Amino acid sequence: MAIPESFVQTIIDRADIVDVVSRYVKLRKSGANYFGLCPFHGEKTPSFSVSPDKQIFHCFGCSEGGGVISFIMKIESLNFQEAVKFLADMYGLEMPENDADDEGRRRRERMLALNKEAARFFHATLNSEIGMGAMEYFRNRGLSNRTITNFGLGFAPESWDALTGAMLRKGFTKTELSDAGLASKNKSGGIYDRFRNRVMFPIIDVRGNVIAFGGRVLDDSLPKYINSSDTLVYNKSRNLFAINIAKKTKRKNFILAEGYMDVIALHQAGFDNAIASLGTAFTPEQARLIARFKDEVVICYDSDEAGQKATARAMEILQKNAINVRVLKVPNAKDPDEFIKKNGAVGFEKLLEKPQVGNEYRLSVIKNKHNLDIDEEKIAYMKEAINYVAGIYSDVEREIYARNIAADTGVSAAAVIKEIEKTRNSKGRRDRKAYEKDAASPVKNSQPKSRELKYENVRSAKCEEGVLAIILKNDEFIPKTMEKLTSEMFSSDFLGKIYETIVGKYNEHESISLHGIVNFLEPVESAHITSLCTTYRYPANGLENALDDCIDTIRTEYIKRNSEEQDPMLELIRKKKEWGK
Ligand code: UTP
Ligand code: MN
Repeated sequence: MAIPESFVQTIIDRADIVDVVSRYVKLRKSGANYFGLCPFHGEKTPSFSVSPDKQIFHCFGCSEGGGVISFIMKIESLNFQEAVKFLADMYGLEMPENDADDEGRRRRERMLALNKEAARFFHATLNSEIGMGAMEYFRNRGLSNRTITNFGLGFAPESWDALTGAMLRKGFTKTELSDAGLASKNKSGGIYDRFRNRVMFPIIDVRGNVIAFGGRVLDDSLPKYINSSDTLVYNKSRNLFAINIAKKTKRKNFILAEGYMDVIALHQAGFDNAIASLGTAFTPEQARLIARFKDEVVICYDSDEAGQKATARAMEILQKNAINVRVLKVPNAKDPDEFIKKNGAVGFEKLLEKPQVGNEYRLSVIKNKHNLDIDEEKIAYMKEAINYVAGIYSDVEREIYARNIAADTGVSAAAVIKEIEKTRNSKGRRDRKAYEKDAASPVKNSQPKSRELKYENVRSAKCEEGVLAIILKNDEFIPKTMEKLTSEMFSSDFLGKIYETIVGKYNEHESISLHGIVNFLEPVESAHITSLCTTYRYPANGLENALDDCIDTIRTEYIKRNSEEQDPMLELIRKKKEWGK
């Protein structure tokens, strides 16, 4: 492929499928998904669905489906390369040079090595004599030794060349230091340390690589924090502070805070599920990163107005990505760090017991915007609130909020409910029903719609489909599947190819997702696999048994096929020998 895979991945990460499809199809949200009229076949009622969660589209009418690239290929009649280029233009991304991939990889690896060395240097400095003041600063903020080690905290001394000198001695170049954002260039071509006299917070990605730093002053001077700018290895809109630790939590959700110190204080207090968006506006990429681990987030931003505004934004993005949201506003403290200092872990645990449901929080924000003593404002509030409630999936929740709106405005509950249902409109309900019905029925046709993919051995192929559907959804089954199944055992070349891709990604420690795979397939293939994963009926329990059954059948069929395919002469000789015994 002429386009480096890493760039295709960038496109897939950036080009949100709902955003892209919306440019062609009018979409309406219904439950976790979006629906609209299929652009690929004529229809009057919407059966075309887009899943923001899975980043795929699928039409229940014509079985067309795939990821964001396949969508553009199809709708703009482009080939793969052209579609990638098209999306790159749409999002203002520069196409990389063809042979840049290997060189790019080498430079990324060097940069990660440099960051790791720098983090070691800062940490060692903190623990040395030069770091005594910084150590005292952390102590005053209540951090234990263990916390300091866990987070790899450090200190950048008051010096123009402490870090650069140490790194040059380790064989890194000036250019590498400045590319990594650790050093700045002066006019005469020299470089100097960018972080000086600051306590240092390394930012570590999901895989444990140090990808960036934040540095805080030890007093009230400004700027309070400086952070690495984006580099080859760091994109701030795509990372979350402490995700490397929080991903291992046993707690059921993530706590999303604003700052470094909030997260660190939370972890020290035993909330090892805290992460931070680090002062930047929360992004869809961050939501998708979260969705890989949890389906619920408790937003616990600063209690000031900026924090509350940011809460509304983050909430919307999270909900779009099928993540349940709860909101926790710390009382009588500016942020979780301060709250924990005042009330301890016990106090925070208590708050966590009953965080506000996201929808409740949003409605209270809508309500607070309006002065309900004025009739006009009352109507405006009703309109906005009804519109919001109409988008809520749960019937029970809608009814509860309807009653609240009624009480707030003095309008009868019946009238509010009627208005909400009207807004939801009958069509929305129809396509949700259709979707539910379809999702609950077994895969209808044994053969793929496209003749090109015709199955030779339907019995085996059905099980091959089962294996793929199951491991794409539950990657913890991959190692055990790999032990028993190789891609040669697949009767369908196409399904075998997908299996091989999954195994390859797994071995490379890459994340496994449907949209990470469908975008690399031929359109007919991606349509089929999307359709499969959308309509596959996962057994409510006993998923592992179902997987085992599928694997057994594939192996049996494989052995059968192979003995049939043996040379008949050889077979005859073997039999004669046996008889001769
Ligand atoms: P805050 O100003 O709320 O800082 O910014 P904080 O986290 O409470 O920090 P302390 O307790 O004063 O040490 C929240 C986050 O916004 C980013 C940082 O990531 C910070 O943790 N920020 C803030 C910056 O990047 N630069 C700044 O100058 C300020
Ligand atoms: Mn704060």
